Amino acid sequence: MPVLQFPENFVWGVATSAYQIEGAWDEDGRSPSHWDTFAHTPGKTRNGENGDVACDHYHRWPEDIALMASLGIQAYRFSVSWPRILPTGGRKVNEAGLDYYDKLVDGLLERGIRPFITLYHWELPQTLQELGGWPAREVVDHFVALADVVSRRLGDRVKDWITHNEPWCTSMLSHQIGLHAPGWQNWLAALRAAHHVLLSHGLAMPVIRANAPQAEVGIAPNYEPAYPLTRTEADLNAARIWDGYYIRWFNDPLFGRHYPADMVAYYEAQGYLPDGLDFVQANDMATIATPVDFIGVNNYTRQIMSGEISLDQFQTAANPNPNASYTEMNWEVYPNGLYDILNRLHFDYQAPKIYITENGCSYSDGPSSGSRIADTRRIEYFQSYLAGIHKAIGNGVPVAGYFVWSFMDNFEWSLGYSQRFGIVYVDYETQQRLPKDSAFWYGDVIRQNRLEIE
Ligand code: FCB
Repeated sequence: MPVLQFPENFVWGVATSAYQIEGAWDEDGRSPSHWDTFAHTPGKTRNGENGDVACDHYHRWPEDIALMASLGIQAYRFSVSWPRILPTGGRKVNEAGLDYYDKLVDGLLERGIRPFITLYHWELPQTLQELGGWPAREVVDHFVALADVVSRRLGDRVKDWITHNEPWCTSMLSHQIGLHAPGWQNWLAALRAAHHVLLSHGLAMPVIRANAPQAEVGIAPNYEPAYPLTRTEADLNAARIWDGYYIRWFNDPLFGRHYPADMVAYYEAQGYLPDGLDFVQANDMATIATPVDFIGVNNYTRQIMSGEISLDQFQTAANPNPNASYTEMNWEVYPNGLYDILNRLHFDYQAPKIYITENGCSYSDGPSSGSRIADTRRIEYFQSYLAGIHKAIGNGVPVAGYFVWSFMDNFEWSLGYSQRFGIVYVDYETQQRLPKDSAFWYGDVIRQNRLEIE
């Protein structure tokens, strides 16, 4: 039985996000976010489901973090809800909202769990959406104000900061594909949004560092690498375009390479950029390239690309792999994709340090007899991805930690409660939490700092 030992000080954590678990959507001065508006709009989410109650974590957090501690979890990546803290943007703080995160942070530290804060995991105050949302440059300053307010209050205790979760989703999935709030289908708006997200990240980093001098700050893009179906020129080209659209458009500017020229040309040829990159102002690109302390990698799957590509018609798993297994998201289990991305971030982009900030799978296993939940496929998924990470570390890739998505089953955005990613099962009727087998398995991995592959 191979045993994979992880480096000393490797951080083992779990991840969630505020809207997906907190509920209490209108309590203690929280205003609606654009996700509340979207989820309350008929037809936008599965069965009209929303995050009004979710896992009720806003009220149950002491129980939840006690469970984390009992499993031996070392770090918890969570996001702050912007409209709880600054209900209308700007700087007018809702103290009750900020107090909530203050208590959560203290509770974590008391239990020896290291907090990793994500500032933006997709909850824009609705008032800022009405100002134009991310496509409007004004929102950038509002985000920097959020970073300032939160890091001023929590920076004495929180050392690990993530500005944005998945800029591709905030921009493309939300403004071009339209599956996430605000549900637009407008290329130019999406590309403007991408720029403003990146810019706000670059501007927020020095603010966080000033308020929390010991802090390490990074960003967590999603990486879904593309592979050509065959080696034909058309398939290689399709993979290149997907890579440019999904990965390089975000990663290149972060590492000082500007927007990729081949993609600017492609978007111009498609008519997506009628006035070129006119939304890029002097110094923006230097700001975006402000060195990060780490890159957060969110990775679940990959794409297999072929033929004439249309990013407007794109469907995931358009070229199913007959030899692979798929999770209930219809995402291919492909641990080599994460391995490849890690190597690329190190050898090509020279990322200073890497955390896997999200990795996990949706399987609906629930309690069958008694309270035991035998989610064997989830354990196998984690084993295979962790083996890839271990191999990358062996190549010299500086991976410093790993966060399971997710600590518990939660609101999976437009798919509502149909997808269960948790290592802890949530019974949404009773709000009972039941650790799945994978949670106990993960606890063992953490205690031993190593993985035994069967
Ligand atoms: C990522 C999101 C996270 C969750 C997982 C399944 O794209 O960051 O909130 O929805 O996917």
